[in-house]
Formats: sequence, structure tokens, C-alpha cells
Amino acid sequence: MRKQVDVLIIGSGIAGLSYAIKVADHAQVLIVTKTESDETATKYAQGGIAAVMYTPDTYEKHIADTMNAGQYLNNPEIVRLTITESTERIHELVDWGTQFDLNSKGEYSLGREGGHSEHRVLHHKDSTGSEIERALLEKARTHPNIEFWENQFTIDIITQHHLGKEVKRHMTDIECYGGYIFNPETEEIYTVLSKITMLATGGIGNLYSSTTNPPIATGDGVAMLYRAKGVVSDMEFVQFHPTSLYNPGETPSFLITEALRGFGAILRNKSSEAFMQRYDERCSLAPRDIVARAIDNELKISGDDCVYLDCTHLKKKDLMDHFPKVYARCLALGIDISRDQIPVVPSAHYSCGGIKVDKDACSSIKHLYASGECAATGLHGANRLASNSLLESLVFSHRAAQHTIEQIGQIDFCKGIPDWNDEGMIHNEEMVLITQSTKELQSIMSNYVGIVRSDLRLKRALDRLGIIYKETESLYNKSKVSVQICELRNLINIGYLVIKMAQNRKESIGLHYTIDYPPIAN
Ligand code: FAD
Ligand code: SIN
Repeated sequence: MRKQVDVLIIGSGIAGLSYAIKVADHAQVLIVTKTESDETATKYAQGGIAAVMYTPDTYEKHIADTMNAGQYLNNPEIVRLTITESTERIHELVDWGTQFDLNSKGEYSLGREGGHSEHRVLHHKDSTGSEIERALLEKARTHPNIEFWENQFTIDIITQHHLGKEVKRHMTDIECYGGYIFNPETEEIYTVLSKITMLATGGIGNLYSSTTNPPIATGDGVAMLYRAKGVVSDMEFVQFHPTSLYNPGETPSFLITEALRGFGAILRNKSSEAFMQRYDERCSLAPRDIVARAIDNELKISGDDCVYLDCTHLKKKDLMDHFPKVYARCLALGIDISRDQIPVVPSAHYSCGGIKVDKDACSSIKHLYASGECAATGLHGANRLASNSLLESLVFSHRAAQHTIEQIGQIDFCKGIPDWNDEGMIHNEEMVLITQSTKELQSIMSNYVGIVRSDLRLKRALDRLGIIYKETESLYNKSKVSVQICELRNLINIGYLVIKMAQNRKESIGLHYTIDYPPIAN
């Protein structure tokens, strides 16, 4: 089965949709998503989107906060362009129908989160992502040039490797011609040829046992690009959100937004001590790497299962008005947040690393862009500033769209690409081989490659991963394609990249903290 389309977009979160809306005025677009279109990390974003809207805030202050959170490993040019374009991108999002909360003066109500020196987070109560996803999907669905393929899994991108040519890492002329897309219902694999391909496949959270990410976040785009010998960077910087609800067995872990701390909530240990004072002068509003590490330390010392977020000094009505989703979720578990402290633990939340891209979101592979969480733009450095992710997606999808519109007229479809060949492959009848390996992988990553690392733990993780890798490749090479085995394979690729890049970084900085190297002062 074959299809030709000008622009193939993998992913329907904020990155994929905002890019689609712009390029669709100039080209035919196909958006492929592995489940329903709105099942994205974007939909679950709570706190909001950071942007400079009013004085006393300035671009310079937002730039300084972003660089400081990232421990100056950020690319200063990228930080500046992202933040100076923030206001324009927000106005556009509003023009497309997104509703942000307003204050009594009719101005945007701006929240504050860890590491921000000003109130600058636009939000829609505590369901900002769901409001953005709604508005973008409504806009994209009505565009005559945009087609959606839901519940279709992209297995791999197509390059000259599929024409039988040798492709090596660091080659500068690798080209992308589209993707192989699997329909789990019919078991057909489509060869989709495109002039331009956009990877907007989101995060990697399911590499760990506990994550705030939805099940779709299995690092597929990064793994596909890596297999195609493209350049990936910064994977050692995995962000753990300090406050996910401690509710053993719940997957994904429910996020307790950092905006609650911006609103005055305080982290306490079991003895009711506001322990963050011992770790950072910004206390509960220090950047995420510092807070997550402090909690990890408190739990290791005390042996407790969780720490607590205390909102009991805040007004019940304010909590219900501003954080209705968190309020309701906790209440359903018998926790009235106006009276009871919320049990919280850190969970894997965000990948600062990914597909290395330039300022126009171009990857190292020709005609292949990446935007959103799967991309490494250089904005975040060693640690992402809260609520900079949705902003980054908008800015880079906009730049990618402009670049695409300039380039697409000069690109032709590639001829001679073969269809996917799975002759002789058999159905894997033992799903336990995949589910058990996934659990083992998550356990290895959580225990050895989490918030605190060491050379010994990383080596042990790599050795264990090697065994799972060999077993999985052997199974993959004789099995018919299934989503489960592809996702496991992708997660193994991602685990390898996180471990290798962590081993290569011989220092403690930002989200990469190892007991073998002294930390660099913030
Ligand atoms: P996503 O929105 O995750 O979309 C990924 C898309 O790719 C999906 O459509 C999926 O189906 C598709 N896909 C993936 N692999 C394949 C494949 N193989 N084949 C076909 N389709 C595929 N950031 C902020 O800035 N502010 C916040 O307040 C905030 N809160 C957050 C709260 C939570 C609970 C979480 C999990 C994240 C939060 N983040 C926040 C981070 C932010 O939401 C994400 O980084 C951002 O939404 C990622 O957008 P995206 O478009 O890159 O990917
Ligand atoms: C949150 O609401 O705490 C998440 C914000 C983010 O990940 O940027």
C-alpha cells in the first residue's frame, strides 16, 4: 500500500498541529498519530505556557531565568530567539481560539513556577494543555488540506538506506523520503512518500517505571532518527517533576502542578518541616532539578515513601477556582487539599534532549524536521525552565513551517522505494516476552539512571540493557510488526542514548547528577 503527500507529520500535539496549520496553506498535509489525535502530552499540560506579556517582565528577565535554570549549557542564540518570539506566538494561539484566564483588569492572569523571577505563565485554570489541544485540533480539522490518520503507528522513516545504499552515522547527505506506517487493525504497512517529514512525536517518559507522561511517550521519533543515523543530543538531561501524586499503582502518575507552589503551597517532610530551606534560598520554588534532588535525598534519609505538598493555609475557594482538576483528582482519593497535605514523589516528566535541530528545526537529515519534546533545540541546557516546553514547540514549529514553505517547491518525491517486506515473519504469540522486558528496562532505568547516578550504576545499567537489546532484536527480526515490540525497541534505543550520554558527561550539572563528580554551583 502506498501514498504520496507533500508533508508527512508524525504527531498531533502542539508541535505537530501548529506546524500543520501553517504549512497546510501551501501543501497537502498528512498527520499520523498512534492513538486518538488528542491523546498527547500536550493535552495533560497543567501549569501553562511561559511568555513575556507585560511589564515589569522583560525578555531579558525571561532569558536570564532560562539560562540560569539550564546552568548556562543552553545555546544563548536559541534562548534569545525563542523568548523574543514568545509574545507573537501567544497572540497567534489566541487568534486560533485558545482561551487563557484573564484577571479582573481583563489582562492575562499570569502564574509563576519554579525558577521564574516574574509571573509569566499563561494558563487555562490547571487544564492549559487540554485547552490548547482543543483549539489547535479544531483549527486543523477544518483545514481542507489536512488529513488525519489516527491509530496508525510509524515504524521508521525512509532514507536512501531503503534503496540499498549504505548510510553511515555523521554522513551529511542522508535524506528522508517519508515513513513506513503500520495499521494495527488491518496489519497493513503503508509506504508513505513525502517531500518533507516532520517528527513531532513527543517525550520518552515511559522509559521509567513512574512517569507523568501518557503511554504514547515512548521516544519513537528520536529512536527512528537514531536508527536512520541522524544526530541526537542532550539525552542525559531527563527531567523529573518533583511533585507527582503518590498513589502507588496509578499509571501515568497524576501531576500536581508546580503552579500550586507558585500560588503558595509548601513542600514538607513527614515531620512537617519545610525542608527546601535547607537546599536552596528559593525554597519550594527553586528550579526542578534542585527540588527533585532534594526530595530524593529526604526520602533516602528518612526511608519514607513520599513527601507532602501543603496547601492547607490557602483559601479553599481559591484552590477550587484555580486548580479544579487537581482538587477533584485528590478529592476522589479522599484528599481534601484545603485540609489535607498532598503526598507527592518525583516522576520522570520531560526529555530536554532529543533530535538535534538548528534554529529552523532542521535535523541532520535532509527534508526532515523535528519540533516539540522530541527535538533538542538548545533552549533548555542542563535543565528546562518550567512551562518553556509548550513555548518552544510553538516557536520551532513556526520556524519549521516558514522554512518548509520556502523549500518545498524544490523537492521531488523519491522514486524506487520498496514496500515493507515481512515475508516469512511470524506473529509473536508470547506477549509476556515484551511486557516483561519493558518492565525490566523501566526498572533498570529507574534504579540506575534516575535522579542520582554514578559511574558504577551507569555501567551496570548498560550491561543489563545489552541483554534486553539482544533478546529484543532477535525477537523483532523474526516477528511480524506489532506496536508493542516497536515501542519496546524504541525505548531500548532511548535507554541506550540516555546511558551513553550520561557516561560521557564527566560532571554533575543540572539534571545529570552523579555522585562521582562534584556538582557545579548554580
Ligand atoms: P505530544 O503532545 O506528546 O504529542 C506526541 C504525538 O506524537 C502524539 O500525537 C502521538 O500519537 C504521536 N506519536 C508518537 N510516536 C508516534 C508513532 N510512532 N507513530 C505515530 N504517532 C506517534 N510543558 C509546559 O510548557 N507547560 C506545562 O504546563 C506542562 N505541563 C505538563 C504536564 C504533564 C502531565 C506532562 C506529561 C507534560 C507537561 N509539559 C508541560 C510538557 C509538555 O506538555 C510537552 O513537552 C509537550 O506537550 C510536547 O508536545 P509535543 O507536540 O512535542 O508532543
Ligand atoms: C506543571 O504544571 O508543573 C508542569 C509544567 C511544566 O512541565 O512545564
